[in-house]
Amino acid sequence: MSTVAVVGAGVIGLSWARLFREHGMTVRITDPRPDLAEVVPDDVLIAPTVAEAVRDADFVQENGPEDLELKKTLFAELVREAPEHALLLSSSSAIPSTAFTEGIDGSRVLIGHPFNPPHVIPLVEVVPGEQTSEESVTRAVEFYRSLGRTPVVERKEIPGFVGNRLQAALSREAAYLVEQGVVTPADLDAVVTNSLGLRWAAVGPFLGAHLGGGPGGYRHLAEHIGKSMRGLSLGTPSQDPERLIRAVEDAYGSSTYSALAETRDRKQLAVLTALEEN
Ligand SMILES: NC(=O)c1ccc[n+]([C@@H]2O[C@H](COP(=O)([O-])OP(=O)(O)OC[C@H]3O[C@@H](n4cnc5c(N)ncnc54)[C@H](O)[C@@H]3O)[C@@H](O)[C@H]2O)c1
Repeated sequence: MSTVAVVGAGVIGLSWARLFREHGMTVRITDPRPDLAEVVPDDVLIAPTVAEAVRDADFVQENGPEDLELKKTLFAELVREAPEHALLLSSSSAIPSTAFTEGIDGSRVLIGHPFNPPHVIPLVEVVPGEQTSEESVTRAVEFYRSLGRTPVVERKEIPGFVGNRLQAALSREAAYLVEQGVVTPADLDAVVTNSLGLRWAAVGPFLGAHLGGGPGGYRHLAEHIGKSMRGLSLGTPSQDPERLIRAVEDAYGSSTYSALAETRDRKQLAVLTALEEN
């Protein structure tokens, strides 16, 4: 049975720890937060230091803050302290591993970027850095598959990788539409969950567009409706998000985080179950 070290026990680290335990792995977790013992899932072993967490690890999943200097320090320690065969994976949302492996051996370091919460959402973006070996990429893909995840290997490092760049594009226009008073945050969410979100759980944007063109497929769509879509100029939201923050808090601030997260996870699991059955 494999041993995995979870370094950083915030939103993402705790969710990874839960998934690793659900798959019978031995899980060691470390984080300087004073309430660590109160938040770790059952049967997860607490380690007082990073070195002790990774000492006999086969896999390390790093989930510290999204801060380049911190990740540089952390990965220098991981390369030094983890066994030579251990794969060193970072949950980093935007910083590519080449940026934090300068001057150290990065052959077994790469990004394994999940979507929140990783114990529910299947995608893991596997992004090798300039030094990452092909063997490490293969091992990362096998590791995430063994956990029931869907790894996608991305062959060029680009800030934000693929998922967050797509999310940023949609979020930018969503912010603009709310700031312009076109829709409220709740109505914008209703537009997405009742159309694009539902469609994209079944088919991605390209297959969706291919079908949107009817029997003529993507070519028909691109040459007809596509012309007017390409001419659409999209908005730029203001640089001060304060009004938007207040509008989102007005919409959802009266519910607790745990109630909203529980509903989100229940619905997402229901969608996943329906997809598995079809
Ligand atoms: N929140 C998301 O939606 C999301 C999704 C995918 C990936 N990520 C990425 O995952 C990583 C963690 O994000 P998060 O949202 O869980 O952040 P978070 O702030 O909830 O957790 C970060 C944790 O790291 C701990 N930490 C600080 N210094 C540390 C150290 N030296 N050693 C070990 N732990 C340390 C902090 O105490 C904190 O508990 C980031 O790189 C982030 O970009 C976040």
